[in-house]
Amino acid sequence: MSDQQDKKLWGGRFQEATDRDVESFSASEQFDRRLYRQDIQGSMAHARMLAAQGIISQEDARQICEGLQEIEQEIREGRFQWRPDLEDVHMNIEKTLSDRIGAAGKRLHTARSRNDQVATDVRIYCRDEIVAIDQHLLQMQKALLYQAENGIDILMPGFTHLQHAQPVLWAHHMLAYFEMFKRDRLRLRDCHARLNISPLGSAALAGTGFPVDRMATARELGFSGITANSLDAVSDRDFLIELLSALSIVMMHLSRLSEELIIWSTSEFSFVELPDGYCTGSSIMPQKKNPDVPELVRGKTGRVYGDLMAMLTIMKGLPLAYNRDMQEDKEALFDAVDTTRDSLKVMAGLVRHMKPLADNLRQAVYTGFITATDLADYLVTKGVPFREAHEIVGNVVARCLAMGKELHDLDLQELQDLHPAIQEDLLHLLTPEGSVNSRRCPGGTGPEPVRGALEQARRWISDYSLQEDERS
Ligand code: ARG
Repeated sequence: MSDQQDKKLWGGRFQEATDRDVESFSASEQFDRRLYRQDIQGSMAHARMLAAQGIISQEDARQICEGLQEIEQEIREGRFQWRPDLEDVHMNIEKTLSDRIGAAGKRLHTARSRNDQVATDVRIYCRDEIVAIDQHLLQMQKALLYQAENGIDILMPGFTHLQHAQPVLWAHHMLAYFEMFKRDRLRLRDCHARLNISPLGSAALAGTGFPVDRMATARELGFSGITANSLDAVSDRDFLIELLSALSIVMMHLSRLSEELIIWSTSEFSFVELPDGYCTGSSIMPQKKNPDVPELVRGKTGRVYGDLMAMLTIMKGLPLAYNRDMQEDKEALFDAVDTTRDSLKVMAGLVRHMKPLADNLRQAVYTGFITATDLADYLVTKGVPFREAHEIVGNVVARCLAMGKELHDLDLQELQDLHPAIQEDLLHLLTPEGSVNSRRCPGGTGPEPVRGALEQARRWISDYSLQEDERS
């Protein structure tokens, strides 16, 4: 047996050294070292529990925890010697510990397997990242609220099929995104609640014969309970897939917002001025101010979807319980978390600092027969069945198109020619303000419901907490 083989923690049954290529092919320490804090936290809780249960001595547990704290500090300060031949974060830390403290270190892995260890680490990691991402979502919601409040009187065209549809308030449009990010936060809370249970004690797959206290480690690690089935616990990555799904939806929302901002900042639309600090110029065209940030976010959304697809595909054919395929979860998870966090951060800044161009938005709202529905609705109030009213107004639009006029350009006489029931009171309804003001139903774009929605949104962000039991 070679020197190299001597160093393997699992080398007992092997006659030959691991092939060099296999060693580097299977090592994950270069990326899973990111889990060092969670790994050490889990190991210390496990060691203390082992001692409390009389499975190892209190002195062993003390040495283990001290040694682990020292290692944690070295890693944090970049002084730790990572070794790819020790495969992953778990064995790098455990082997270093045993080399330093001897027998006590070798007792740490009692009643534990890397299978329940890695499942624990990843659950803690996801939990911590959900808390961080939730805070970025809050910042995004605050930026949208700021825009809604500041632009409460701004009118703009609402679109369907990217064609002028009906007038809306800018604030209403901003609050639509507020709702999307609210659902994202609720989804992350669900995901957090479901993943926050401890797999420790499941050991390799079948549980352990040692008298472990699973609730004790769960409590110490801040889990709300323990997993119910050891086979499931070590082979479950649903929680990670749920998180990737929730993050994919966050990115989808960011991407839709990005797309709108890209369109709105073109000279054809000119609905918003994006902040200089969030745009870039062209190396050849001096006049250019490109919306690179929303473009990148739109592009990165594809990456995060890819991470989700990767995980779903990795898991689809795996028999119970642990399989090494599952090591592939980390890069997808880290990439999706980093990408979503960074995208949210930069987009919240962009949204906070962009400027709606109120005059252009207002001008746009006066085109495209945007109050045609209001005219049809008016005829309905005069007793015309809606389908007939629709037909009449369609004809009016066709006539206006031929004359090069908008609906609000028609005078009372012209309107009365269309239908005798039309009176003076229609005229204000055909203006964008009149149209918006009439949308008084809850959830509509009228100034009243929008002010109510703003108030509710403010209240929601001050009342909401990720951990339900933290709420007063
Ligand atoms: N590095 C491994 C992973 O991330 C840790 C678990 C290894 N378990 C095993 N039986 N080889 O999946």
